[in-house]
Amino acid sequence: MTDVMILAAGLGTRMKSRRAKVLHELAGLPLVAHVLRAVFKLNPEAIFTVVGHQAEEVERAVRNSALRLIEANPAASPELQFVTQTEQKGTGHAVRAARARLADRRGPLVVVAGDAPLIEGSTLRTLVDTHHAEKNDVTMLTVMMDDPTGYGRIIRDENGSLLRCVEQRDGSPEDLAVREVGVSVYSFDIPALLGALDRLTTDNAQGEYYLTDVPRLMQEQGKRVGLLCHSSAEEVLGVNTRIELADLERKLRDRKLRELMLSGVTIIDPATTYIHQDVEVGQDSVINPQVIIEGASRIGSGCIIQSWTRLKNVDIGNGVTVRNSCVVEDSAIRDGATIGPFARLRAGAQIGEKAGIGNFVEVKKSKIGRGTKASHLTYLGDATLGERVNIGAGTVTCNYDGVRKNETIIEDDVKIGSDTMLVAPVRVGHGSVTGAGSVVIKDVPPDSLVAGVPAVVKKKLR
Ligand code: UD1
Ligand code: CA
Repeated sequence: MTDVMILAAGLGTRMKSRRAKVLHELAGLPLVAHVLRAVFKLNPEAIFTVVGHQAEEVERAVRNSALRLIEANPAASPELQFVTQTEQKGTGHAVRAARARLADRRGPLVVVAGDAPLIEGSTLRTLVDTHHAEKNDVTMLTVMMDDPTGYGRIIRDENGSLLRCVEQRDGSPEDLAVREVGVSVYSFDIPALLGALDRLTTDNAQGEYYLTDVPRLMQEQGKRVGLLCHSSAEEVLGVNTRIELADLERKLRDRKLRELMLSGVTIIDPATTYIHQDVEVGQDSVINPQVIIEGASRIGSGCIIQSWTRLKNVDIGNGVTVRNSCVVEDSAIRDGATIGPFARLRAGAQIGEKAGIGNFVEVKKSKIGRGTKASHLTYLGDATLGERVNIGAGTVTCNYDGVRKNETIIEDDVKIGSDTMLVAPVRVGHGSVTGAGSVVIKDVPPDSLVAGVPAVVKKKLR
């Protein structure tokens, strides 16, 4: 069984950020979550994450994304371990921080940097397979780059075996002319790794313990070092600056939009459409320009999502229309419903089949029955509405009494007149009607008419 170590203690100086680099988000997920997704494909026994900068937040990010991955695939259940590297004295120092934990592990240990979000599980698998097949003590993943500036170069001897790794700042002009670089992905035999770690020094331009020195030290101890040159630099290289982060964002976004289009989704303007990786969209749905769809969202087939709309963690059925400028979060919309323009659904709104939620309507934690309509200027919070209910313009469920959130229940076939205030907790029985401007403070029995308090002229002004 394989163990994995993710190096995630660094701040990431080149990001010019107060936030640890691995917490910066790509396609809606922290960088380290992308790495975790790849290492899960190895079905590892344990995952050690080395944390330092913002250790608590990084640990939380790793735990959260692991939970989600385990939810998706309950067969995978790696042991999560966190190792603190109090001072960041280099990648070799980071691995050394975990030395005590590694002593009784059998390995192999796959080490990856937490800042290389596009790395794929299949690449890690090939690395481990090669490691076994060649009976190596360490196998290093490398890649050829047109412009290797900034990366650690791989210097090979005439037989193609590793001589040494040289960081940019330590290299001679000949070294720096080499286009093959290490990508901070390794498979190690654990005892051999531990033997070499102790011999690392800080005798280099950055005064750090370089993990890249370990293969050479292992070789000096008669161990077998393998190099596996990967074909795609794009996949294996880390993010160092916010420019690279935005580049990757664009690439991932393109990849996702192409996948969706190839599967039968119309995307009118890919240049202005933002759809996160985990989003599913059904056949013949149409996504208009300037739409953002985030989180774990699912949209059925034959839907129309109009412009300037943002959807996050939504579950949308088939044949739903979301008109211009809606914000929908953590909500479900059933088949054939129509939302917006300018509607806001949040925190547990459930819109029934063929229901209509119109302009300037906010719905929170409410269940809206089949065929029910709230077309204008309304707040529905903590409410349960039956089927075929009509909500007049300006209706408010007064759900908050200053202390508690109270519930409103409106049964089937009720007609709520414009500007009705429903003071919760309150129930309106089926088939009832409220007049315009009613303030409903008591339960209404079925099939009743509730008339508002009519306004009276109090005094002449002039
Ligand atoms: C490293 C390699 C370089 C390689 C490049 C590929 C070394 C010395 N250099 O350089 O050869 O080409 O990756 O992307 O290994 N980290 C810690 N603790 C530390 C330092 C770093 O946990 O003390 C973590 C960082 O959080 C990061 C990863 O290790 O996730 C890599 O560190 P980074 O500083 O980005 O290394 P590079 O300079 O890119
Ligand atoms: Ca890096």
